[in-house]
Amino acid sequence: MLRAEIIGVGSYVPERVLTNFDMEKFLDTSDEWIRKRTGIEQRHWAAVGQSTSDLALQASQDALKSAGLSATDLDMIIFATLTPDHFFPGTGCFLQEKLGVAGIATLDIRQQCTGFLYGLSIADHFIRCGTYKKILLVGSEVHSSGLDRTTRGRDVTVLFGDGSGAVILSAKEVRNPEKDSFVLGGELHADGRGAKELWVPAPGSALGRADRVDHEVLEAGLHYPQMNGKKVFIAAVTKMAESLTNCLEEHGVTVQDVDRFFFHQANLRINDAVAEQLSIPREKVFNTIQKFGNTTAATIPLGMHEALKAGELKKGMLVALAAFGSGYTWGASLLRY
Ligand code: UT7
Repeated sequence: MLRAEIIGVGSYVPERVLTNFDMEKFLDTSDEWIRKRTGIEQRHWAAVGQSTSDLALQASQDALKSAGLSATDLDMIIFATLTPDHFFPGTGCFLQEKLGVAGIATLDIRQQCTGFLYGLSIADHFIRCGTYKKILLVGSEVHSSGLDRTTRGRDVTVLFGDGSGAVILSAKEVRNPEKDSFVLGGELHADGRGAKELWVPAPGSALGRADRVDHEVLEAGLHYPQMNGKKVFIAAVTKMAESLTNCLEEHGVTVQDVDRFFFHQANLRINDAVAEQLSIPREKVFNTIQKFGNTTAATIPLGMHEALKAGELKKGMLVALAAFGSGYTWGASLLRY
C-alpha cells in the first residue's frame, strides 16, 4: 500500500532570546507568574525584517538536508501559519520563490495551533492518492511583531514565541505495516462556536467598517490576539485527551505501545493534565515550551527536531501527536517514525 513517510525534519528559531525577566522590563508581569502558570522560561523573537517565510526557509532547508534532497525534488509545499508574510497571497508562494522552485503546488492552511496536524493529513492524502511523491510541510510563525506589549495584552504576549519547523513527506510502498515507518492516520476536528475565544479580529471583512484598518481599530487593539484563557484551557485539555484516545483506539494501540508523544505547546499545565488523564508517563511526553513558548503551527515539528537532536526520537518509534487551538480546531495523529 502507498503511504507517506517522514524522511526529513528541520527547524529554525531566531537568534534573539527573550527571557521572562526581559519581559518584566516592559510588561506588568513576573518570571514567577509566567513559569508557574505556563511553564515558559524564555522564547525567541525574530529580528525586525525577519519574516515568517524567512524562518520557514531555514527550517525547510534543514529538513531537506536531513532528507538528503534538494528543493527541486519537491512536488508541493504545504504552509501552516497564522502570522502570514502578508494578508495575501499565501506565505507558501513567498517560500516557494525563496526556495527557487517555481511551478510546484503551494497550499496555505489557516488551522492555527492544529495547522501541522491538518497539513500532515492533507499531505498524507495527496501521497496515498498517488498525486504527489515529495511534500514539504512547514509550520512557521513570527508572533513578536503582532503582540500587544502593554498590560492589556499580557495574558497572550507572554505565551507566544517565533519559530519554524518542517518535515519532508515521501511516498513509500509499505510492505510490513507492523514495522515500516509511515503515517498511520489521524483525526481532525473544528468547532466554530469557539472562534472568538481566541482570535485576531482585524484586519477583516466582518468588522462592519468601510476600511479594514482605521485609527479606531488600531486604538481598540483589534489587530492584537484576544483570548478567553480559562475557557480555551479547559477546551484544550478535554479535546486533546478525547481526540488522542479516539486516535489510539482506532488504530488498535494503547498508551503503552506509544514511544513518544508530541503535543502542541500552549501551556505545560495543559500537557500535564492530558498526560495525567490518559495515564501517560511523563518521560514519554516531549515538551519544549520552556525554551520556545507557543510557536503555534511550528510547535510539533520543532519538538520532533529537538527530540531527534537529543536522541529522544529514533527510527521505528511509534509516535502520537495531538493539538488544540484557535478555531477551535483540534486533532491527533499516529505515525511510526
Ligand atoms: O495555543 C492555543 C491555545 N491557547 C491556550 O491553550 C492558552 C490557554 N490558557 C492559558 O494557558 C491560561 O489561561 C493563561 C496562561 C493564559 C492564563 O492563566 P490563568 O491561570 O487562566 O490566569 P487568569 O487569566 O485567570 O489570570 C489570573 C490573574 C489575573 O489577575 P486577577 O484578576 O486575578 O487579579 C490576570 O489579570 O493573572 C493576571 N495575569 C497576569 N499576571 C501577570 C494575566 N496575565 C498575566 C501576566 N502576568 N502575563
